[in-house]
Amino acid sequence: MSDKKYTFEEIVNHLVTSGFVYKGSEIYGGLANSWDYGPLGTLLKNHVKDVFRHHFIRGIEYNVEIDPAIIMNPKVWEATGHVANFHDPLVDCKYCHSRYRADDLIKEQRKDLDVDNMNQDQMNEVLASKTIKCPSCEHTDFTPIRQFQMMFKTFIGVTEEKTSTVYLRPETAQGIFVNFKNVLRTTRRKLPIGIVDIGKSFRNEITPGNFTFRTREFEQMEIEFFFKPGEDMKWFEFFKENCKEFVEKLGLKDEKVRFRDHEKEELAFYSQATTDIEYDFPSIGWGELMGIACRSDYDLKRHQEMSKVDLTYLDPETNERYIPHVVEPSFGLDRLMLALLMDSYEVEELDKGDSRIVMHLAYDLAPYTLSVMPLSNKLNEKAKEVFDMLRVDYDCIFDTTGSIGKRYRREDAIGTPFCITYDFDSLEDQSVTIRERDSMEQRRVKISELKETIDSLLRAKKTY
Ligand code: GAP
Repeated sequence: MSDKKYTFEEIVNHLVTSGFVYKGSEIYGGLANSWDYGPLGTLLKNHVKDVFRHHFIRGIEYNVEIDPAIIMNPKVWEATGHVANFHDPLVDCKYCHSRYRADDLIKEQRKDLDVDNMNQDQMNEVLASKTIKCPSCEHTDFTPIRQFQMMFKTFIGVTEEKTSTVYLRPETAQGIFVNFKNVLRTTRRKLPIGIVDIGKSFRNEITPGNFTFRTREFEQMEIEFFFKPGEDMKWFEFFKENCKEFVEKLGLKDEKVRFRDHEKEELAFYSQATTDIEYDFPSIGWGELMGIACRSDYDLKRHQEMSKVDLTYLDPETNERYIPHVVEPSFGLDRLMLALLMDSYEVEELDKGDSRIVMHLAYDLAPYTLSVMPLSNKLNEKAKEVFDMLRVDYDCIFDTTGSIGKRYRREDAIGTPFCITYDFDSLEDQSVTIRERDSMEQRRVKISELKETIDSLLRAKKTY
């Protein structure tokens, strides 16, 4: 693959036109920053989850997965501090009414200031100093900062009374903490134990954007790993290493991935260490894919205080009673997918001024593994028999339209590793041609040996 640079917009355009992602509610004119995954995106998403489950659940003996509710008792969010503190500082331009996060605005334009350590009054002072311009109209008059609650509110029951106000979860993690005792009891396990939750989270982001990088509805894959206090750094390093291996399995280019350890001043008061894994996105630069955080006993303690339920653990070996400490690896699935899609895109120059778009996704991540193509419509029925034989075992396309060259290009552009062509000779020799995506090499294989050949080709490139 060449190291030619592509713009973010160019790749997004390819993802939308080829059907990885659709504009949300498109027939109604769309909904700002809302995206739907098409069949290609959905298959890719499921394959990333497969690798995640294989690596972090089957691969780590302590981990189990649960699937808690999205709407939880609102006391959960009081306990965690989300009701009181999950706010963004919002300002409007008085002239054009564009809306911004005050901290982002100041950060972009006043590199001399340490915005992360400023309170609301200090940020208001900077805005009042007229040194910040509205990015859309360049005026310098802003409203005072208002705190904007990022959790989506909704109501349960038939009336919209305050007592029935609930929230869509802004992270999957809390469904794990509130079930810590249930999981320990019903699995009869001891510490350490890791509990995984994969699912949707919702945040009313003020400034969503950059395609699926920041949206209001997104999917997280989170692990809360519980252990004896004092072992924090041991498990933190363990997960750092494991997350590195996981990212390598996905096949992201090494030089595009970095681990960024948080400075002491960036850490929450209860945290000994936090690291972000970042990806160097085209045009937009380094963006966070996931974080690994030491969370000590903070969450369980808060839930114990609020629920009045004892969340301590009696250590059977030492007879000590304590609240376990936690390390939390937290992945954004949509961002991982975006990184993979950006990473694998290539416009490859071929002979005679020809070119092709290729998505160099790992073979076991690509949406479809195979496309079966009859050379002529006269061969559709026989080729369909081959397709029917394969589709139970592989994600498979049956493509009968356009020239073979065009069909190859279509499959390259969505990352399909193998194209299988059924031609007139196939009627005689009971063989088909397999063409490989990256090398474009072709080989003739007996239909009776097709599955075996595909499996061995896949095994050779297996990433997990
Ligand atoms: N439980 C910890 C937690 O939720 P976070 O850093 O707020 O931590 C974890 O979120 C990951 O979720 C991020 O690294 C990112 O990949 C993803 N994420 C967060 N907000 C997102 C958004 N608005 N759109 C897409 N992904 C998001």
